[in-house]
Amino acid sequence: MPSRRDLLRCAVVGVAVATALGAGALAWSSTLLGEYSVMGMGSGGTTGGAGHAGHGGQGAAAGGAAEASGLLDTVSVTDLAADPDRPADVRVELVARQGTVDVPGGRSIEGYTVNGTSPGPEIRARQGDLVEVVLVNESVADGATLHWHGIDVPNAADGVAGITQDAVPVGGRHVYRFVAADAGTYWYHSHQVSHVQVERGLLGAIVIEPAEPDGRIAAPTDGSPLDVTALLHIYGGQHTLNGRVADERVSAPPGSTVRVRVVNTDQGTAAVWAGAPFRVVAVDGHDVHEPGEIEGQRVLVPAGGRVDVAVRAPDRGAVRLHVGGARSIVIGDASAEASAPPVRQPSTTLDLLAYGTPEPLTFDAASPDRSFDYVISRRFGIIDGRPGNFWTINGRMFPDVPMFEVAESDVVAMHVRNDSGDVHPMHLHGHHVVVLARDGVAASGSPWVVDTLDVHPGETYDLAFVADNPGIWSDHCHTLPHAVDGLVAHVMYEGVTTLFTINGEAGNRPE
Ligand code: C2O
Ligand code: CU
Repeated sequence: MPSRRDLLRCAVVGVAVATALGAGALAWSSTLLGEYSVMGMGSGGTTGGAGHAGHGGQGAAAGGAAEASGLLDTVSVTDLAADPDRPADVRVELVARQGTVDVPGGRSIEGYTVNGTSPGPEIRARQGDLVEVVLVNESVADGATLHWHGIDVPNAADGVAGITQDAVPVGGRHVYRFVAADAGTYWYHSHQVSHVQVERGLLGAIVIEPAEPDGRIAAPTDGSPLDVTALLHIYGGQHTLNGRVADERVSAPPGSTVRVRVVNTDQGTAAVWAGAPFRVVAVDGHDVHEPGEIEGQRVLVPAGGRVDVAVRAPDRGAVRLHVGGARSIVIGDASAEASAPPVRQPSTTLDLLAYGTPEPLTFDAASPDRSFDYVISRRFGIIDGRPGNFWTINGRMFPDVPMFEVAESDVVAMHVRNDSGDVHPMHLHGHHVVVLARDGVAASGSPWVVDTLDVHPGETYDLAFVADNPGIWSDHCHTLPHAVDGLVAHVMYEGVTTLFTINGEAGNRPE
């Protein structure tokens, strides 16, 4: 017998279908999702996945031949792991709990904590370290995972429920191991029911310090901490900096340089600006080559993105760095805050397409082995019995979105176009992507290397990356309510398989 809820759902679908038919011109489609594997996504479609004729034909043909001959060895995502015999250099236990989140300076909210707070503890490691993190789920009812946003971890450690692991149930634990090969500013967050768990606090920062000190930043002479993290998060409408509804002060000797690692863990873009010149020294953990001074401009940080800015403490008094619209950091003589009044947000934005100076890329982006389109739009449809105006990728709706199939060592070109009315911070797991052009204008500054890129309505981006990290990798919008409404595709390496499923017994719901 159908439950009351099922009957209700049928009624809702009926109304929606009638509305759609009534409107006549509205295209719609209906999908009922039971348990499924991401490996089945994109099947039955005709447009996605394959390379464009003209580009990428070679790679696609080679892949097809290998498949046809059935010679591909398969490897499971769980086997794509760090050396199990190498001892950890940094070992951390993180305990996830569901409950009240204390928000100092504001009011507490119902959400999630890591080791009792949100954000959870900042993890610090040195480039080259093997990092081992044990996640313990003490009380997160839906289960939880940890994803290492921006770190090109081996696939087994990617933390996506239903692709690389099962969500860790209450009372369970999971071990993540990866070598922190690239220095930079990153963050971790749950990738189970992420549109709820991330927004409500299951997250923290992770900083990989360079093996050699960054010569562009004057080393502290008096032992003062001149490397600070500015993690932005909105808890129930309250704008916080490092978990507090408060501004911060950093005492720094006159003339010294402070590196501020801005981490945007929110669902929308954050702005950074200052009352004095500053520089952007890294974007998404990747150093900017010869960054110039920025004055009278703001820097925009996509949802999920990071920028490291270098701010010089003035010879006298202090300077105020605004982070995220509502919070700021006063740097310099902490007793002279009055010398650093708030300044209005500039209306012009630093264009990273032309910032810094060029440097050769580490690969030849001009002759890709594969070339894919990622065209974002939206249309009316029904996903899992739920009618709505859903996102589409290359005109197709989740879960029938393209599967971007690559082979190891391919150079991959991706052409992203946003035909929808919203900005989308597009995030590819496991890889860093270089921006070649925007709206046909070639990049002219430092290589602009990202893991999270805001694509504004009407924009097109030409991107490229090297397929050097085998696995099955999510490539989605980091405004997480968009992801749960279908703005998710995957890059899949030939021969890699997963036995994990979504919506099955393990209750995996990555978005
Ligand atoms: Cu920060 Cu797929 O996530
Ligand atoms: Cu989006």
